[in-house]
Amino acid sequence: MSATAKKTAPLPDDIRARKGGTPIVSLTAYTTPMAELMDAHCDFVLVGDSVGMVLHGLPSTLGVTMEMMVLHGQAVKRGLQRVMMVVDMPFGSYEESPQQAFRNAARIMAETGAGAVKLEGGQGMAETIAFLVVRGIPVMAHIGLTPQSINTLGGYKVQGRGAAGTQLMADAQAVSEAGAFAVVLEKVPQTLADQITAEVPIPTIGIGASAGCDGQVLVVDDMLGLFTKFKPKFAKRYATLGEQAEAAVVAYAKDVRARAFPAAEHVFADAVPEGKS
Ligand code: KIV
Repeated sequence: MSATAKKTAPLPDDIRARKGGTPIVSLTAYTTPMAELMDAHCDFVLVGDSVGMVLHGLPSTLGVTMEMMVLHGQAVKRGLQRVMMVVDMPFGSYEESPQQAFRNAARIMAETGAGAVKLEGGQGMAETIAFLVVRGIPVMAHIGLTPQSINTLGGYKVQGRGAAGTQLMADAQAVSEAGAFAVVLEKVPQTLADQITAEVPIPTIGIGASAGCDGQVLVVDDMLGLFTKFKPKFAKRYATLGEQAEAAVVAYAKDVRARAFPAAEHVFADAVPEGKS
């Protein structure tokens, strides 16, 4: 490292070191302005492939492409001065082989400035995670409800109830042993999330899991209440921006139709008044 190289904080190792400490705070972001709002308040920002559903109106994350992840990764990175960005690997970009995963993860890292990638899968992805980590790509794993597998999981159901909990515990152990620096637990029963958190040595990041996880992540549009029709049970709304935005659009339309907008203060005179440029 050169003497001038700056350490951005926190790095994947700093996140790993937060195991059992003050909970790790994370949100998804897809744009520069939203990333700017989060930079001082989150421990890492995730460019989730949820971008496909949230910003592009896709019915699932399956249609998300590498190009979309690179474009949104670049946009988010421009808004971050302080925290690490993690970028999701989209469906079809890593499952075929560790070599395919490396090619695409390396592209994401090189073209976006991400500090790490996230990929979905447990035991079945352990070999790929190890392949990436040993070649310099920090990996966050994602188990439980893995939305890229909705067609085999049969929908967006809670995962790991009853006997299926044993498999989920094995998945968490496997990704940890493979070298993942953290693992997202999505839509997992609270007790199981607590057990995984207690037994697995890397931080667990919950979404629809447990307050006992080592950290939490939410889709930013869910927590801001930007959706007016859809509200997942696990997504606490900290604002109702969707309703406020619609009310603003209604007020604007009313003003335009009544010729109340633009008003005198929004229009320009023929001559520049003296003293003004
Ligand atoms: O794509 C995404 O936003 C995610 C989080 C919800 C964990 O994977």
